[in-house]
Order: sequence, then C-alpha cells, then structure tokens
Amino acid sequence: MPGVTGPSDYSREPPRHPSLKINAKEPFNAEPPRSALGAAYVTPVEFFYKRNHGPIPVVDDVHSYSVSITGLIENPKQLFLNDIRALPKYNVTATLQCAGNRRTAMSQTRTVKGVGWDVSAIGNAVWGGAKLADVLELVGISKLTGATKSGGKHVEFVSVDRCKEENGGPYKASIPLIQATSPEADVLLAYEMNGETLNRDHGYPLRVVVPGVIGARSVKWLDSINVIAEECQGFFMQKDYKMFPPSVNWDNINWSTRRPQMDFPVQCVICSLEDVNAIKPGKVKVSGYAASGGGRGIERVDVSVDGGNTWVEASRHQKTGIPYIAEATCSDKWAWVLFEALVDVQQSTQIVAKAVDSAANVQPEKVEDIWNLRGILNTSWHRVQVRVGHSNL
Ligand code: MTE
Repeated sequence: MPGVTGPSDYSREPPRHPSLKINAKEPFNAEPPRSALGAAYVTPVEFFYKRNHGPIPVVDDVHSYSVSITGLIENPKQLFLNDIRALPKYNVTATLQCAGNRRTAMSQTRTVKGVGWDVSAIGNAVWGGAKLADVLELVGISKLTGATKSGGKHVEFVSVDRCKEENGGPYKASIPLIQATSPEADVLLAYEMNGETLNRDHGYPLRVVVPGVIGARSVKWLDSINVIAEECQGFFMQKDYKMFPPSVNWDNINWSTRRPQMDFPVQCVICSLEDVNAIKPGKVKVSGYAASGGGRGIERVDVSVDGGNTWVEASRHQKTGIPYIAEATCSDKWAWVLFEALVDVQQSTQIVAKAVDSAANVQPEKVEDIWNLRGILNTSWHRVQVRVGHSNL
C-alpha cells in the first residue's frame, strides 16, 4: 500500500490523554469523562472518543500515500493527498456518534455483546476536507447521480487498518451513491479535525465523515473507494451494526433480515451529573448534549426532577450566546445541541432528560423496549440518580 509502512500490531500506538476512560486496550477504545464532553460545543481532539477495531496504522510517507477510486466507473483514478487538497475545502461541523454509545446501560437489563461504553462515545468536531461529491466528479460521476452507467449504486470505503472481524482484512463500509454525490449531504474526505491535521487516532492522513449517520460508516485511514452495485458485504455492514428487536437472540438471529443501520436516532444525555451524585438541596444545573441523525435538528429537550412525572423545557444552544433554532440556516445542521436547565432539587431523586427532534421523534422511555443483542442505539431517556444530603457533602 503506497505510503503505509510499519507494523500492523499494537507496538506503535499514539499517545493519548490520561483522563480518557479506556474501555478496551487492544484495539484501543476510550471515551472522555462526561463532564469534559459537555463542557464544549466543539470537542477537543484529545477528548474525542476513539473507536478502533484494529491497531492504528502507520502512514509514514504522505507524499506517496494515495487513494484509488475503482469499480463500476468509466475513469478509475489514483488520487494523491495533493489532488484532494486541490479541491475546494469545506469545514463541516458534525457530530460523530458510535452506535454503541450507552451500551453499558443497556447491558444492565440483559447482557449484550460489545465494548462497554458509558455516555461519551460521541463528539462534535469541525472536519475540514473535500466533498466526496467533488472527488467523484474527478472520476466522471456527476453530482446527484444515483447509478453509474455500469450499474454502480453504492460507494464502498476500504481502509488501511486490519481487523480480526474481517479475518485480517481491512475495515470497510459503504453509503448509497446518491448520498455520496449529493453536495448537500456534506460527506467529506477529511484531512483536518478542529483546524489541525487529522491525527493518527482519528484517521490520518484521510478519513471519510458521513454526517448524521452512525460513526461506523465514517471509515478512517482511507485506502480505496469502490463504486459497487450492492452495498458493501463487509462484516460491519452485514454482521454488525444492525438493529434487531428484543426477541432476537444469538440462536435465532438471521442477519439478512435487517438493513445496515445508517442514520442515528434522537439522543440526549446529561453530562453535568454522574450516575450517583451527592448534592446539596437547592438549584442544580442539568446540562448535556442532544443530537439527532439525518440532519434533523433538536426541537426540544425536556428535563424532569421527579423521575419523569413532570417536565421543564431546557434552553438549547450551539454557539455561546446565540439561541439555537432547529433547522435554521444559522444552525449547524449536522451538529449536536447543548442544553441546560436550572432545577430545584430538595430530596434524593432521579433526574431525567429526553429530546424531541425536528421530525417530532422522541426518545423511548425504557431501555428494555429497545434492547437488542448487540447493544446498539441505546437512546432511552437518560437518567441520573442524585442523593441529597444536608451535611458536609
Ligand atoms: N474506520 C476504520 N478504518 N477502522 C475502524 O475501526 N471504526 C468506526 C469508524 N471508522 C473504524 C473506522 C467506528 S465503529 C466509529 S464509531 C468511528 O470510526 C469512530 O471514529 P473516531 O475513533 O474518530 O471517534
């Protein structure tokens, strides 16, 4: 592979911030403390969750690094980083969320399979790069194309890294061609994150960012792009990241009955309180993030201090001082929204938050109702227990 050297093992992992909670060491999977996550609209790179299925590849020579674009197209091409940098650059603020976010809470009702995540397998970054729609034009595919002449309908992203789920092969995923060629979908080949060169953990030198879609489709360390007839047949598209009903278990599962998960559903999480916090009676700040997939905005966030019997509406913002309006042109369409409510808490209780998106989708109340064997998409009402005491807290 041009530009890629070094071992495909865990001997050259990059340095990471010491406050990250490590959920798995090899491959490295870690998330920031929830207080750090909720503190900023744009998540600092060191606090952005890291989700890997194999060792972090070593791309030493960016000058010889290239991405080949092949498949059901007329003009296959090999593009170097400079070719991609020469295209118009876009900065897209987009939230990436792992489908496994909040899996630990789901596994508390019934065991699920997968890395245990608390509430921070999500982050919001400003991704800088070329639009995939512009890149595909270089190989002769016009904007808003749903099918190529030779029958290509999906765009597969193949990575440099190797993972055991693919029997030592590369991580891969695909999106529909119509999404890839739509400038409005803002799918990027990103070489920057928050104004800096993308770092190794997040896909250096080039990654895909598919806004509004579960993180699994935003392939890091891009190696090649294939235009294909059917969606990618890789493990993470066909045998993982699919949403099954609670009745499906490992004995009766039939993977082919479900579509690969794409958009993520409406979600919100309280970041200002841990699961069991001791607080003094009085005013308590309840703040956190809310996000929805598919470019849907956040219409409302409700907070309850009595376990969900009564609710108050939280205020919402993206940039400090500017009130957020769902789907207004001044709002970041693909980005999360931070919320805040000041509530009065006089006794030990359960504080709850739930969000409603601009399509009026609302988070489900109980995790049991959306339990699934892979523990994905836990978007149930977020609850934190607070213990109120009057003495030295
Ligand atoms: N791309 C490659 N090549 N290898 C991976 O393991 N993990 C995916 C996706 N892209 C992955 C990948 C998953 S499941 C998620 S949630 C996001 O990357 C995480 O991106 P991050 O580590 O930059 O937060």
